[in-house]
Amino acid sequence: MSEHSANLSSTVAATGRPLAVKAVIPAAGLATRFLPATKAVPKELLPVVDRPVLQYIVEEATQAGIGDVLLITGRGKTSMVDHFDRRPDLEARLEEKGDAERLAAVRRPSELAEIYTVRQPEQLGLGHAVGYAESHVGDQPFAVLLGDEFVKLSEPLLPAMLELQARTGGVVLAFFEVDPADTKRYGIASVEPAESELTDIGEVVKVTGMVEKPKPEDAPSNLAVLGRYVLPGKIFDAIRRTKPGSGGEIQLTDAMELLRTEGTPVHAIVYRGTRYDTGMPLGYLQTVVQIAAERDDLGAEFRSWLAEFVKADAAGGSGT
Ligand code: UTP
Repeated sequence: MSEHSANLSSTVAATGRPLAVKAVIPAAGLATRFLPATKAVPKELLPVVDRPVLQYIVEEATQAGIGDVLLITGRGKTSMVDHFDRRPDLEARLEEKGDAERLAAVRRPSELAEIYTVRQPEQLGLGHAVGYAESHVGDQPFAVLLGDEFVKLSEPLLPAMLELQARTGGVVLAFFEVDPADTKRYGIASVEPAESELTDIGEVVKVTGMVEKPKPEDAPSNLAVLGRYVLPGKIFDAIRRTKPGSGGEIQLTDAMELLRTEGTPVHAIVYRGTRYDTGMPLGYLQTVVQIAAERDDLGAEFRSWLAEFVKADAAGGSGT
């Protein structure tokens, strides 16, 4: 038994509450910040080096012990599901060629988790999308992983969130610190210290409220909401009772806020690890560069090219 699964079992024994075993990945959004690339290709399938963003996200769930993943998809997004299917024709060709490495890479997505899908017929907001998970998830706690964001696999966040949710039974969020001047780009939380302890990956705080995209002078903190949530099953009832909010959309934040005001505890982990945001061109480019630079197979060559490029750029050349 791994150290992580040993911790998980002791948590279940200590609280009597089960850990979330299912994940939901809402990926039905229109991805307007990445147009025109995302007109025909879902942003979740944009490659980071040689794997689509969505594979990193499913790997993050799998690493946390989750083997059941529900993708919320929409029009033009069915290719996302194909990535997690087998490709016997391709596999046969690679087998013939004796290319064991690529064969393993092609098979890997289909071996990660059980993938299920449901369609959100109209893009009426993140809360609305999560609502479509109800018949798959039932009344058990579950994780939500947004389809355009992931964390470094060697600095895992989700296991600590799952354990915290099993302890509190409430809503568990994750925050990251932003430059105070940038608060208007994010959902920002007001918090107070939690009596509880530190996790391996960051401090635990109690959430007292959330504001969408406040101006720096109105922001209650510099803690921004990261796209990972662990939610109790009662969120579905709260979503049903949530009216359209900001942008006319049914917001998950509003449904969580409804639960909080009715007494459900809301905690968060202030994540100290590395977060990648692939939802818009700049964050996507930064992600590709960081991950490429760390790859065993091409990192060294890429880093030396990059260093040359930056040097030439600083000296006024194009570097290419
Ligand atoms: P975003 O706010 O990033 O929206 O949604 P988006 O459509 O993906 O991208 P932009 O802002 O237009 O560029 C956060 C997450 O919620 C999902 C998205 O797919 C994304 O993973 N989502 C959002 C849905 O599944 N359905 C919706 O109706 C809205």
